[in-house]
Amino acid sequence: MKISAWTTLVDALREHLQLTGTKKGCDHGQCGACTVLIDGKHINSCLTLAAMQTGKEIVTVEGLGSGDELHPVQEAFIKHDAFQCGYCTPGQICSTIGLLNMNKGSDPAELRDLMSGNICRCGAYANIYKVVEELKDRNTEALSKNSN
Ligand code: FES
Ligand code: FES
Repeated sequence: MKISAWTTLVDALREHLQLTGTKKGCDHGQCGACTVLIDGKHINSCLTLAAMQTGKEIVTVEGLGSGDELHPVQEAFIKHDAFQCGYCTPGQICSTIGLLNMNKGSDPAELRDLMSGNICRCGAYANIYKVVEELKDRNTEALSKNSN
């Protein structure tokens, strides 16, 4: 893929690769809608240039499941009704996986702090917290499946 040196990762994903699952909200690092996983860590893709991520493994919401099987975090979002309009959901899912990969979020205050970069206009927070509560004690390796 040939892109300009100044193309952000979110624009490379959405405009050049047509991977529109990753959403663009503020474009300024303030809403978390554009969160993707880079080498298993969650990052705002509007705040990094695509060229800076050469050679790294970038996983968007499209790459989380395998075949017809959803990633456990995606399944849990459905089970707990953790989305309404769904606009913030890809970013929320990637951030959830990122913090589970770090083994963080067991304390409610820490969890709120770690997820505070993901804004949800619909207010789905309460059910998103239920997702993390359910998954935080699960085997991290299983959760990381296809995500790092
Ligand atoms: S679009 Fe990247 S943080 Fe809002
Ligand atoms: S579910 Fe609508 S913005 Fe979060």
